[in-house]
Amino acid sequence: MPKATIIDGKAVAAKVRNEVKERIELLKAQNKRIPCLAVLLVGDDPASTIYVRNKMKACTEVGMLSLPVILPAETSEDALLSKIKELNEDPNVDGILVQLPLPRHIDSQKVTKAISPAKDADAFHPINVGLSRLGEPSFLPCTPSGVIRLLDEYGVEISGRNCVVIGRSNIVGKPVADMLLARNGTVTVCHSKTQNISEYTKNADIIVVAVGKAKMLTGDMIKEGCTVIDVGINRIDGKLYGDCDFISCAEKASFITPVPGGVGPMTIAMLLENTMRAYGSI
Ligand SMILES: NC(=O)c1ccc[n+]([C@@H]2O[C@H](COP(=O)([O-])OP(=O)(O)OC[C@H]3O[C@@H](n4cnc5c(N)ncnc54)[C@H](OP(=O)(O)O)[C@@H]3O)[C@@H](O)[C@H]2O)c1
Repeated sequence: MPKATIIDGKAVAAKVRNEVKERIELLKAQNKRIPCLAVLLVGDDPASTIYVRNKMKACTEVGMLSLPVILPAETSEDALLSKIKELNEDPNVDGILVQLPLPRHIDSQKVTKAISPAKDADAFHPINVGLSRLGEPSFLPCTPSGVIRLLDEYGVEISGRNCVVIGRSNIVGKPVADMLLARNGTVTVCHSKTQNISEYTKNADIIVVAVGKAKMLTGDMIKEGCTVIDVGINRIDGKLYGDCDFISCAEKASFITPVPGGVGPMTIAMLLENTMRAYGSI
């Protein structure tokens, strides 16, 4: 039997989605405009197609409008940029997201920067990245804010605790580290060049692992009573694994997220929350 309390990401995500649903029901009762998320997909990559479908389904389930913009793989960068401009100017569209990765002939950075920072549901625009770094009000990226929400929901104190983030990507590791620091955690960021990661993880009260290598964090690398948040998604022989070895880590940790069913469900829930923020309802 694992010693750790298993953090139920599905339940917390359902709670967040329900909060969004209740807000939308209130708007409907007041005959107000319904929030709308535009979801752009270029090409027919199977994984991206599923992600887009799931995001639109989540919108429908909470009563939010979604506007699918499905473009062929050969769409030019200019055509995509002008579609984004149109959506930026559309008063009925609150949030815009472009499903990544884009086809190679399109510059993702250029596209990310073309989205109005005020409609930036994924919070990847440099203005939102900068504002959040400065601790000013801004959109926050979905997966990292989902991580923080899970810690909060389970009453895991961040302030004054040793936090280790493994991974330093722009979409997960760096923003998670910033958010933990903003909550007064003492934060160490490890990455592929870090020597002897367990030297850091053994002292950590909270470990967030976002690497993309199955079972890289093992029970012998962590201290008794810590919290392990596993962002990793690794598909091996059709089965999903996180970045931590769940069995050995759950024997020592106080709190741990499973994969699937931990951080994963939070990402779309926080996307809905960001769209409500763009609408002005939060
Ligand atoms: N749950 C969700 O909704 C969600 C959302 C996003 C991502 N993910 C998953 O989270 C994982 C990470 O995603 P990402 O986009 O952040 O990945 P990424 O951009 O590939 O970044 C991986 C990071 O891990 C570091 N790393 C690689 N090997 C390492 C090692 N052996 N030891 C320590 N650090 C190592 C890399 O270091 P360097 O910087 O030195 O190369 C890099 O900073 C993936 O499995 C992804 O599928 C899940």
